[in-house]
Amino acid sequence: VNLKPYNTFALPCMAHTLVRIHSEADVRRVVDDPELGRAPKFILGGGSNLILTQDIKPVVLKVEVPGLRLLATRDDAWIVEAGAGERWHDLVSWCMDEGLPGLENMALIPGTVGAAPVQNIGAYGIELKDRFESLDAVDLMTGRTITLDGAQCRFDYRDSLFKQALAGKTVITRVRLRLPRPWQPMLGYAELERKVAETGITAPSARQIFDWVVAVRRAKLPDPAAIGNAGSFFKNPVVTPEQCRDIIQRDPEIVHYPMPDGNFKLAAGWMIDACGWKGKTVGQAGVYEKQALVLVNRGDARGAEVVTLARAIQESVYGRFGIRLEPEPVVI
Ligand code: EPU
Repeated sequence: VNLKPYNTFALPCMAHTLVRIHSEADVRRVVDDPELGRAPKFILGGGSNLILTQDIKPVVLKVEVPGLRLLATRDDAWIVEAGAGERWHDLVSWCMDEGLPGLENMALIPGTVGAAPVQNIGAYGIELKDRFESLDAVDLMTGRTITLDGAQCRFDYRDSLFKQALAGKTVITRVRLRLPRPWQPMLGYAELERKVAETGITAPSARQIFDWVVAVRRAKLPDPAAIGNAGSFFKNPVVTPEQCRDIIQRDPEIVHYPMPDGNFKLAAGWMIDACGWKGKTVGQAGVYEKQALVLVNRGDARGAEVVTLARAIQESVYGRFGIRLEPEPVVI
């Protein structure tokens, strides 16, 4: 099977075996299978956070567990449950239609519900962990289903247990989200504040914020259906106050945000832009014209070309700022 249609960067990659997973029972069948059970596994969601540079020998489990439902209405929150195979944006839209606000800032993030906890997706001031209740995952050794709460998932910035100790060991099948009541808008992010100022709408509805986020994202992030990409290619690096001061002295314009722990997060996109990479192309891989943090497929890119471009960017950012950028997607 060629995985090209199954990864948003549209990188070609051959897999020997692909098994579609529609339920927990499907995972157990794989675990119990005399051949498949013992083989190494590779778990594939929407393929939107993946850079494939070589063929995949493990058995690919493509997660397609369906389902969207309101599980509970409590005084303090709505609890929503979604199958891991649902598209994340479909869940957000469904919640809007059902009058269940709270996910609007995370509208239009590519990928599946099951992939969302893996890298603790986030945008415009809200991360998945801020809306997380629990998830079900099937252990690939025992076939048993486990339920994990937020603390157990060890969420961090674009990180979780599923990128670390449990990488490749469990299949997330269902995710439950907690939408706090009463709903409160999250407008702290600069681009949403700008929308408030532009429109004069100071008390927007969840639907209004949803529309703003969709507009902001469409304006600066490429649609994977049209241009292959995996969202932000690098994490925004965190530096100490001393390092930050040092960089500001040399580059007073650098975009930086204070963090609760006293450190500073630097805008990697700004640094890449400052190094002159925006709009550049190397082979079939390129840097998106409207957002330097996003690498794109100019047509027929191979994973190796993307990695070559990423390395060149890392070197030039290191040369100028002394900062090592870390890739954000999973590189195979
Ligand atoms: N900037 C530039 N030039 C560029 C790109 C950005 O100067 O080419 C500046 C912007 O003007 C802004 C700052 O850098 O002042 C930060 O840019 P932006 O607000 O677009 O956000 P980001 O840091 O590039 C992060 C997330 C995105 C998320 C947005 C909004 C990471 C790695 N990325 O991007 O998440 O949508 O904030 O919250 O944390 C993703 O993870 O795939 C992703 C798209």
